[in-house]
Amino acid sequence: MDKQLNIHYQEFADENALPLQDRELLRQAETMASKAYAPYSRFKVGAAVRLANGVVVCGSNQENAAYPSGLCAERVAVFSAAANYPDQAIEALAITTQAEKASGDPVAPCGACRQSILEYEHKFQQPIRVILRGKNGTILVLDSVRSLLPFQFSAEDMGL
Ligand code: THU
Repeated sequence: MDKQLNIHYQEFADENALPLQDRELLRQAETMASKAYAPYSRFKVGAAVRLANGVVVCGSNQENAAYPSGLCAERVAVFSAAANYPDQAIEALAITTQAEKASGDPVAPCGACRQSILEYEHKFQQPIRVILRGKNGTILVLDSVRSLLPFQFSAEDMGL
């Protein structure tokens, strides 16, 4: 039997049509990207997470001379939010990039980040809004990390 998945997302040419909260989150992600520690890739990523209590927790990618020891901006932000505010659901996550050579299109989180973010959707039983902005200004909005990771691995798969 053939099956097909449809993934819903929105695309905007600029931030004007976005709610104020999203624009603010993008602004904070942008500030974080400029602070990224990415001397090896020169690909700077900023992430800002808005929690249910309104607090915004940010992260940027942190690289290391021993390459695998570094961490993506999204996981820095999400893990920091979960460590500092373990009882607050994550409502939204904004991601922006700054890199001379990058295409300019919005950059979606890597697979490991998708899985890591998804954990908190499961934990709080609440979708996380994902807002991506590229250097060219294009914005993509997804209602849930599930849209980025349609076939998921979760604790349920282990019978937990
Ligand atoms: N990076 C992120 O911060 N987020 C992603 O989703 C993809 C990649 C970082 C990791 C590394 O510091 C640099 O970008 C190049 O891969």
